[in-house]
Amino acid sequence: MRLFSRRLNLLVRRMDAGDIEEVREIGRKAWSDLYSREFQQTLEVPRRTRQNIAFYMDKEPDGCLVAESNGRVVGDVFCHIWGKVGWFGPVEVLPTHQNSGIGKRLIGSAMEFMERRGCSVIGLETMPETVKNVSLYAGLGCVPDRMTYLLEKGLADRWHARPPDPDDMALSRYREVDEADALAAVSRLSSSVMPGLDYSAEVMYSMKHGTGDVLFLRKSEEIVGFSLVYTYNTSEGSGNSSIRLMVIDPAHSGHREMDYLVRLSEETAMEAGRSRMHVRFYTGNYRAFSALSARGYTIKGTNVRMLYRGKIPENEAVCHLTSWAG
Ligand SMILES: CC(C)(COP(=O)(O)OP(=O)(O)OC[C@H]1O[C@@H](n2cnc3c(N)ncnc32)[C@H](O)[C@@H]1OP(=O)(O)O)[C@@H](O)C(=O)NCCC(=O)NCCS
Repeated sequence: MRLFSRRLNLLVRRMDAGDIEEVREIGRKAWSDLYSREFQQTLEVPRRTRQNIAFYMDKEPDGCLVAESNGRVVGDVFCHIWGKVGWFGPVEVLPTHQNSGIGKRLIGSAMEFMERRGCSVIGLETMPETVKNVSLYAGLGCVPDRMTYLLEKGLADRWHARPPDPDDMALSRYREVDEADALAAVSRLSSSVMPGLDYSAEVMYSMKHGTGDVLFLRKSEEIVGFSLVYTYNTSEGSGNSSIRLMVIDPAHSGHREMDYLVRLSEETAMEAGRSRMHVRFYTGNYRAFSALSARGYTIKGTNVRMLYRGKIPENEAVCHLTSWAG
């Protein structure tokens, strides 16, 4: 896809490997500028890692786009497709080139891509206090849908004696399960949140790019839940890990199951030498909030989800932890 605008002399095109360094630099400048502009904080935001960008590009090659002005890359956007659900993030424009329509062109191209891919739910998450971002998305037809939490827990200082495993639950790691069975279980569990939602590609590419591990929760041999734990650096020097995705079958989504799978996720992160765990999820999920609070997690931030198309229905019976933060 190549879109030209004479007025801006702008080309929106597919990102390629030769763009990675410029894209990392755009991100560093755009986010550092955002913190000083919106929050009066002098903060040098670290660059994204090459691994992070290469992972996104491999996962969705036609959904990672750059804006080029006079031959120079000045902005970028990354789309993520989870079955019928599509979202984009991050989107970034060099501070020197902002407010001239480049962000809107990138977002418009991202939305077209997700529509072409047949997504019935399309949206994004942003910081609710950034008036510019919320106005920009509202002007493009996006409607605020819900708040999401970012919870955090320091891991190193909470490494107590390991409690015994429950008798009725067991763990399998991704490499211990036949890959086709593993991905089929992920698809089945995703569709319990919403028909058409499918996390299997996210899981498959995460494992291909060595971003962490997938833990399967078993009961009587049946896989009843999974957790995708990121233990890689998404940005330079970050010692963080995250529970990127967690779904537990509605019939087994109790406090014990959630607590056990979170504990196993934390152990995986600690084994990989990570010092903090992040979890993002819908603020309406009080059961998850109370289970995580009991494990020592505290609120670090909030985002607002804004929808361009469709909606994910609430299914209070499912333990479902994730966000659309890229
Ligand atoms: C968000 C971002 C990508 C937008 O890129 P951009 O090229 O500046 O965006 P555009 O020029 O296409 O559009 C900006 C819109 O915001 C509006 N805007 C700018 N400042 C505003 C303010 N203070 N209040 C309200 N609206 C504002 C502009 O008027 C314009 O809308 P309009 O054309 O309807 O008038 C860019 O600001 C950025 O990189 N920010 C840092 C990273 C970030 O926050 N990314 C988004 C995370 S969800």
